[in-house]
Amino acid sequence: MAHIALVAPSLRSVTSASTTDWAQRIRALAAEKDAVILAHNYQVPEIQDVAHHVGDSLALSRIAATVPESTIIFCGVHFMAETAKILSYDKTIIIPDERAGCSLAETITADQLRAWKAEHPGAVVVSYVNTTAAVKAETDICCTSSNAVDVVKSIPVDRPVLFCPDQFLGAHVQRQLKRDNMHIWMGECHVHAGINGAELKAMVAAEPDAELFVHPECGCATSAMYLASEGVVPAERTHILSTGGMLEAARTTTARKVLVATETGMLHQLRKVNVTTEFQAVNRAAVCKYMKMITPEKLEHSLLHGTDIVDVPRDIADKARLSVERMIAIGTPSRIGE
Ligand code: 13P
Ligand code: SF4
Repeated sequence: MAHIALVAPSLRSVTSASTTDWAQRIRALAAEKDAVILAHNYQVPEIQDVAHHVGDSLALSRIAATVPESTIIFCGVHFMAETAKILSYDKTIIIPDERAGCSLAETITADQLRAWKAEHPGAVVVSYVNTTAAVKAETDICCTSSNAVDVVKSIPVDRPVLFCPDQFLGAHVQRQLKRDNMHIWMGECHVHAGINGAELKAMVAAEPDAELFVHPECGCATSAMYLASEGVVPAERTHILSTGGMLEAARTTTARKVLVATETGMLHQLRKVNVTTEFQAVNRAAVCKYMKMITPEKLEHSLLHGTDIVDVPRDIADKARLSVERMIAIGTPSRIGE
């Protein structure tokens, strides 16, 4: 133990010196290339720290639509970079690794959505932004985890709704609005579905005074609400939040400890905005391998070589833009269902 303590500080200082050099190089390259770096809350800490803007998917969409730079380097997953392209078609959009996909976005294709629509003529299609551009082009209005309830609320109550692709977010919206004409696609994100109610219940039992931040994509979102209504998990300490909403709540919480049910990259920003509360992952294995495909080395490579460029066919982008812009026009409360 003593040996580790002697070695670790010098390793840390070498690492932080080279991280600083790297960060300075990245910022200088970005300025030289007229590029802005956007990073999702699930990115590795070095990338979150070097980015010009860090946020949830809705905040990043909004920023992508308004930044003045001619190039956007999108450190996130592919559908997010596509959304930036849809909103800023004349800009160059780069993702440091185009293979960074999303298991949830893969659960529905444009053909499947067209077939589903044919079964429900007259229904309004609401798609979570975690979808491909081709699916967005078949969508009436998009939503993110931070505005899903308001988006569905904006649809006349007598119109049926097709909600895709996340079943847990869909169940959350349905529960909030008590709407019985919502049809929900049974897709899921493998990372969030892996955070289950049983795990949550065990942790809550072990930490009786902790608050809970739960992302609505989690397999445990349904269970968390159920457990709250049963009084097993205290309802007043259970918050269903987007990643942006978690940050807002972290700024003001006075809890000694918060249990966090989402991808573990989120902990970095939470710990930055609140250094007194302890933030602990409900499942430390909840790591999105796609988000982690964006590494510091790949970010530097993409700035140097202009790869990987994200493109969306113009006709698809034009149709998809309508559904994304309708979403952006809806209010953006980041606390969901509170
Ligand atoms: P947010 O919209 O909360 O940032 O979530 C995006 C996402 O991919 C969750 O897995
Ligand atoms: Fe997609 Fe899940 Fe990764 Fe989010 S955490 S990007 S929904 S695979």
